[in-house]
Amino acid sequence: MIGKTFARTAAAAAVLLTGGLLFAQSAPATLTIHADQPQHAVSPTLYGLMTEEINYSYDGGLYAEMVRNRTFQSNWNGISDWYLLEDGNSAAKMDIDKTTGPSAALTHSLRIDVEKADAHNPAGVLNVGWWGMPVHANTAYKGSFYAKAGSADLGPITISLVGNESGKVITSTTVSGVGTGWKQYEYTLKTAAVPTSSENHLVFTVGHTGTLWLSLVSLFPPTYHNRVNGNRIDLMEKMAAMHPAFLRFPGGNYLEGNHINERFEWKKTIGPLVDRPTHPSPWNYHSSDGMGLLEFLEWCEDLHMQPVLAVYAGYSLMHDHIEPGPALEPFVQDALDELEYVTGDTSTRWGAIRAQNGHPAPFKLTYVEIGNEDWFDQSGSYEGRYAQFYKAIKARYPQLQLIATAPVKSTRPDVIDDHFYVRATQNFHDATHYDKTDRNGPKIFVGEWATREGTPTPNFGAALGDAAWMTGMERNSDIVIMASYAPLLVNVNPGGMQWESDLIGYDVLKSYGSPSYYAQVLFGSYLGDHTLASKVESTGDKFFYSVTRDTAKKQIYLKLVNAASTPQPVTLYLPGAKLASTARLVTLSAHDTQSTNTLANPERIVPVDSTLNNVSNHFTHTMPAYSIQVIVFNEQ
Ligand code: AHR
Repeated sequence: MIGKTFARTAAAAAVLLTGGLLFAQSAPATLTIHADQPQHAVSPTLYGLMTEEINYSYDGGLYAEMVRNRTFQSNWNGISDWYLLEDGNSAAKMDIDKTTGPSAALTHSLRIDVEKADAHNPAGVLNVGWWGMPVHANTAYKGSFYAKAGSADLGPITISLVGNESGKVITSTTVSGVGTGWKQYEYTLKTAAVPTSSENHLVFTVGHTGTLWLSLVSLFPPTYHNRVNGNRIDLMEKMAAMHPAFLRFPGGNYLEGNHINERFEWKKTIGPLVDRPTHPSPWNYHSSDGMGLLEFLEWCEDLHMQPVLAVYAGYSLMHDHIEPGPALEPFVQDALDELEYVTGDTSTRWGAIRAQNGHPAPFKLTYVEIGNEDWFDQSGSYEGRYAQFYKAIKARYPQLQLIATAPVKSTRPDVIDDHFYVRATQNFHDATHYDKTDRNGPKIFVGEWATREGTPTPNFGAALGDAAWMTGMERNSDIVIMASYAPLLVNVNPGGMQWESDLIGYDVLKSYGSPSYYAQVLFGSYLGDHTLASKVESTGDKFFYSVTRDTAKKQIYLKLVNAASTPQPVTLYLPGAKLASTARLVTLSAHDTQSTNTLANPERIVPVDSTLNNVSNHFTHTMPAYSIQVIVFNEQ
């Protein structure tokens, strides 16, 4: 066993025999930082977020809607997530009615025929939510639904949140006066001092015979910034802590869809929810499109991020593509309309529609991505498709920076989007990936990257791989202008995950950050505005670092990664730097690469703050085994 440990660390380790015990630590690294020699600027947009509808990221995730399948999609198994309720001796049946719905977009509905019911024996339907429904004490839940009745004497609808185990009503209200034409009704469910719970469901019942049609049944808890149709507070707060500079949306594969008619059609995701037809997503579930184009933009606004908007570029995942030329023109026009919706003032056609949708002020946009992972397009059409989009967009918006998702020759893209899904070892070897990249070529956007180790969320070994990789991006952030980990979110309930190793996990009630999440929090919190000249000597192959300065704050940020199983002494030289004698030290570490956070143990691995005393221009600092650290030096 000892021999094995020694062999693994021999290249970088010194072995000390003390009192018969064997201690190993990595050979000391010598790191010289020239605080008086700024190198290049650090891209202020280096760290951002990438998002798409995957792993129940929006529906059943960030988008706070509590009702699952609110527009009644059905399959061979019935009407997903809705069940008939026949209390006492009541009798009823339910079915999808394809002949009636509240709008041109929602043309079907749920029909409930109540054959026998009274006030003590009500009948109706229940919805199970996204693996439950969250209930907190003293909280107002705001709901709405579209309904019509077969006749005006149906009586009131009773709406309740009910505990799954107890069967007890937690809170209840009634809505009266449902007429014979489609209309939207609103309701509020207020809780008293009830225990926090997730095992609850929502019930709609009537105590009278008759027919009731329902559509777009909705219920929201309080949301971030109290937005109507808004986002979960805990998840927004977790993202805010990452200090993201941008949001790349709406995908990812979600942009493309499996087939052309299943792409993210932005025009069908704006305006009142009742006018959004919903669509199948490539990740095997149906999207409510409650998170539409404007909601993405408002998410950016709430977290002070700039949008990095991906426009559909004529390729879908099952290898459907549109040939460049006249056939592609409608898609190019659609992208131009989308850019006008985002950036146009209210005198423009689409800017005016955005104002009607509730947001008169245009959004600032710099980066537009043409497609997603178009290297999958074996037809070779991306060359022509990119050129066609590029020409049309630049003609109207010359200031926009256009991102290519695959190599193109005839047009020089402003930015190239690189994707990396790798193991930690690969990131250790490849942390120098961009060191030799041609500085005269397009800028680089690492639009999707992750160390994929750990499921559903990455473990500490993955966080070490991530941190090593981030030191490389930071060192090269003159050319790597943006980077975003993917996927960002995962619902950890059984069946919730389609892609392993996702940054933030949650169920309907709680959420947690993975070790990789906290590595991102550290790197995003201590970005700096320029790199400093530095040199490392006599270190092993599992030590990585990056050094930047924040000019305004007069602070130097030294990020250190020790991916070895032994402590790493680092002798630091900072010639000429005027440093305060204490520095802040933030440490993220674990005893094993397999150690991780979970919903039940969300804070096993979190950053720990401490103070480094006796800081000078020459001192030795020893990093723990398996650790990621930031030393924040204060300059005088
Ligand atoms: O992040 C998951 C998927 O990986 C994205 O949808 C796609 O762009 C990539 O292949």
